[in-house]
Amino acid sequence: MTTTATRPTFPTKNDLDPTIRADLVQILNRQLAANADLYAQTKQAHWNVKGMDFMQLHLLFDQIAEVVEPQTDEIAERIAALGGYAEGTIRMTADASPLPEWPRDVVDGRGTLEALIERWAAYAAMTRKAIETASEQGDAATEGLLTDIVTEVDKALYFLEAHLQG
Ligand SMILES: [Fe+2]
Repeated sequence: MTTTATRPTFPTKNDLDPTIRADLVQILNRQLAANADLYAQTKQAHWNVKGMDFMQLHLLFDQIAEVVEPQTDEIAERIAALGGYAEGTIRMTADASPLPEWPRDVVDGRGTLEALIERWAAYAAMTRKAIETASEQGDAATEGLLTDIVTEVDKALYFLEAHLQG
């Protein structure tokens, strides 16, 4: 269900063109949804992983969950700064997230890593695409925010993938 277009927009002296702002708000709400979903799914992995590598994976998953958690607020406040309406409740974000739902049957270390890698890579890819759009539209602040985010996400993805490389 995509209802972003019906959400209120607010008057602002921000000099970016209103059409551009509306476009970016829609993109950022999708980022917000994926971010919240990725955080919850990474905690899901933290709580449910099993096996001989339990403790180090349990700790790593918590550590990278803390990477995405503060991004939520940054994304939502950028939406507000653009005159948009942040769609950030659990129901709103669950509805709008493009990430696949967590596989409940996976609890082993390798399977959990693979599921996380798929989701973190998808978040990185959509963020990079959003950076491109923000750049094309001349919104340097959104571009900068998302660049900081994807830098952190790429690093977390490397931490996850290192377990399955070599
Ligand atoms: Fe914990």
